[in-house]
Amino acid sequence: MPRVDTTKTPVEFLTEKQAKAEHARLGVEIAQHDARYYQHDAPSVSDAAYDAMRRRYEAIEQRFPDLHTLESLSLRVGAAPAGRFAKVRHAVPMLSLANAFSAEDVADFAERIRRFLKLAEDEALVFTAEPKIDGLSMSLRYEDGALVRGATRGDGSEGEDVTANVRTVADIPHKLKGKHIPAVCEIRGEIYMTKTDFLALNKRQAAADEQVFANPRNSAAGSLRQKDATVTASRALHFFAYGWGEMSAMPADIQSGMVGWLAACGFVSNPLMQKCGSVAELLDYHRGMEARRAKLDYDIDGVVYKVDRLDLQERLGFVSRSPRWAVAHKFAAEKATTLVRDIEIQVGRTGVLTPVAKLEPVTVGGVVVQNATLHNPDEIERLGVRVGDTVTIQRAGDVIPQVLGVVEDKPRGPKPFKFPKKCPCHLKTDVVRETVAGGGEGVRVRCTGEFACPYQRVEHLRHFVSRRAFDIEGLGEKQIEFFFEQSWLKEPADIFTLPARNKTIKLEEQEGFGETSVRNLFGAIEERRSIALERFIYALGVRHVGETTAVALARGYGSWKAFHDVCLKLAKGDEDAKLEMDAIDQIGETVIESLAAYFGEAHNRGIVERLTKQVKIHDAERPSADSPVAGKTVVFTGSLEKMTRDEAKATAERLGAKVAGSVSKKTDYVVAGPGAGSKLKDAQKHGVKVLSEDDWFKLIG
Ligand code: IVH
Repeated sequence: MPRVDTTKTPVEFLTEKQAKAEHARLGVEIAQHDARYYQHDAPSVSDAAYDAMRRRYEAIEQRFPDLHTLESLSLRVGAAPAGRFAKVRHAVPMLSLANAFSAEDVADFAERIRRFLKLAEDEALVFTAEPKIDGLSMSLRYEDGALVRGATRGDGSEGEDVTANVRTVADIPHKLKGKHIPAVCEIRGEIYMTKTDFLALNKRQAAADEQVFANPRNSAAGSLRQKDATVTASRALHFFAYGWGEMSAMPADIQSGMVGWLAACGFVSNPLMQKCGSVAELLDYHRGMEARRAKLDYDIDGVVYKVDRLDLQERLGFVSRSPRWAVAHKFAAEKATTLVRDIEIQVGRTGVLTPVAKLEPVTVGGVVVQNATLHNPDEIERLGVRVGDTVTIQRAGDVIPQVLGVVEDKPRGPKPFKFPKKCPCHLKTDVVRETVAGGGEGVRVRCTGEFACPYQRVEHLRHFVSRRAFDIEGLGEKQIEFFFEQSWLKEPADIFTLPARNKTIKLEEQEGFGETSVRNLFGAIEERRSIALERFIYALGVRHVGETTAVALARGYGSWKAFHDVCLKLAKGDEDAKLEMDAIDQIGETVIESLAAYFGEAHNRGIVERLTKQVKIHDAERPSADSPVAGKTVVFTGSLEKMTRDEAKATAERLGAKVAGSVSKKTDYVVAGPGAGSKLKDAQKHGVKVLSEDDWFKLIG
């Protein structure tokens, strides 16, 4: 919750002591945001909020120059960008990879693929295996063989235009070599800096009293995202090409063939790529790379396996934001030990109280860590963690760091931690203990305050404006807290009435705001009055409705009205509505129950109603409106011979069809294989067209 502190005091009124504290606080916060932005490509604040933080930080340094040298450079994990770049929408999204951490995960990955493709046990399945470069992914667009744009990954759909910068990278050809180059080629790969160049750069930077970087990836990111491309040119950056986005024609039909073609075009491909014919060979490759890792002159954080045949890749398709045909097999997580300064209780959007260990900052795998989750009261008890203990922490991939255990031979904290019996909010609401079935979370403590609990309300608002939800520039976490504290914002609809209410609020007269920033903020709010359905659904913050689920729901229903109507029916316990939703891929009982509970609450219905009066919600983009089955409802029954049920469903959905589990008069096609029973009868009863598997293939072309 907002505290009364000096974080909003104008810089010119800060005492030296306050400035020192504020400078340190901002330094840490900026480092965290840099880490999110540069390392995970997932900033949690808007650009404007970030810039404001940096400006304040710099203003403090200007007023108290001594602080400049006091600043711990090691806490700065990212390079300061000189500004931000224009946004570029990727023609084909840049997705991420699912992770495997164990031999079992890898076996599961291969098994899933075999099942999906209905491959017999003795049928060959070839994979490519290659190092996972710890760099910065990049998409390079070539038109008629000439480099026209370079873009960062960004959120996967939209990146930053860094064309001028990538042109300075020697490994990136300006013109593709060879004959018969497809008219459009989008080449993807990783920009990185060698360990040797990284060390040399840091030496130069330190000598010149300039910023030093925490690891080669940060220095590659920092070097690339320079407004002045001559700075990028002065840094030794490299590029490994390993993939592609939009291609007007395909020069090869296997992954390894495509990589060979990339090399022929003038790119550098990774020489350590190999083909593997079994899980055992994949695991051997992983072991071999882990052993070689330290000797390589570039950082790798795992290996990537991909199905070699592109036709199989296409059939396998994607699930949520990752391809089914590839996986990143990570190396063991990195660990560190540090001191627990405090244990704080955070209240989430759904009222769950999560204990968080506040740590003495420590670098784990190049990232400064100062918080680690303790999950729940049972976990604290299991670990026996006390404030004052030294603990081992682990950071695996992008997940939140975890406390693994107490270092027993270091001095121990004086007393066991007592988990609070009340919510830390000013209402001091009672908390309840819940046992969570499955999911391995065990026990959970939840505040019973619901809509009254200010923490939950603020978290709801924060979620609402977060980057993947409404993403309103200039309305970040800090502003939300501040506006909530002032009672200007109590629920999402209030955001859109803010401009009209500003006659009395007079935001421009508040500390930290000026006429320009208020104008920009209101402009950003206006811009978001029109929003895509999936974002809108996600923004509501219904439990268990994450981004992927929101996309599935949006695609399944197409329009807000259709979705909302069904949700209201769900809330009344309507069985048909439940069955209908259950038929949507990736939607199951948990989501359905959660939506029923959400729309069963009058308070929530009110919030939604007031909000929908303020915004225009766009119908979902149907995957391919021009396919012959777009918008049709299909039921598969009987045993299919050419594809598994999962694949049939995924293909139909990719083509914009809705796949249902039962036949009704709303069904357009029943695709029946041998052994089809009651559903076939239902089809005849309702006069629904019945297709054989072959008819289906003919229909979809
Ligand atoms: S293939 C559909 N191959 O890892 C995604 N990615 O977690 C295909 N990466 O964003 C990606 N080395 O930046 C692929 N040899 C490699 C890679 C690689 C590094 C990065 C890439 C991607 C991230 C996925």
